[in-house]
Amino acid sequence: MIIAIDGPAAAGKGTLARRLADEFGFAYLDTGGLYRAVGLSVLRSGGNPADAGAAEVASANLDLALLDDPALRAEETGNAASKVAVLPIVRSNLLDFQRNFASNPPGDATGAVLDGRDIGTVVCPDADLKLFVTASAEVRAKRRYRELEERGLEPEFHVILTDVRERDERDMNRKDAPLRPAEDALLLDTSNLDIDAVFLRAAALVNEHRSPQ
Ligand code: DC
Repeated sequence: MIIAIDGPAAAGKGTLARRLADEFGFAYLDTGGLYRAVGLSVLRSGGNPADAGAAEVASANLDLALLDDPALRAEETGNAASKVAVLPIVRSNLLDFQRNFASNPPGDATGAVLDGRDIGTVVCPDADLKLFVTASAEVRAKRRYRELEERGLEPEFHVILTDVRERDERDMNRKDAPLRPAEDALLLDTSNLDIDAVFLRAAALVNEHRSPQ
């Protein structure tokens, strides 16, 4: 079974995807991590993430060790990821890896959960279940604010909100594989739901869409 979870930054996709994967014994791929690894690699080499040449090289030679690098989660890396993600060559370099993961999940997993921006529309258009997880920009910025505070940082709310809005703008308006719900995606607005409620709703949908074993 393939589950595609798409949505904007900080909507809670990652937490939901990981919990669903644990619950059903499926493999999980955070596809944003791949774009972040490309962005981080460009930043580390002193390049500009919007420069196609540097991003092409980094995506063609994807360094999977970067997926475990603590700097992968930094705001700066997320912004760099959103910039390299605009480039069609980067997207096409990362496509095979994602499709292979979905059709041959590692280990003995009988399914895969992928989260990102274009899983239901481009990477796995035939996914068995497509969820589009969203929440208002304010709610998402508040969640990110709390997350950063918990990590001992001193974030500024207005900076985070501006950042979330800029990222939405770039992810939704790029030409290649923009962020949007697939026509057959089910929408989950998490603005007024906590993670347990979101998980229960999504798990019920997985059970409904699961083929009998
Ligand atoms: O989900 P995230 O914040 O880790 O993603 C970082 C950036 O990567 C996001 O702003 C856009 C890009 N991305 C993408 O274009 N397509 C995906 N499937 C996943 C992420």
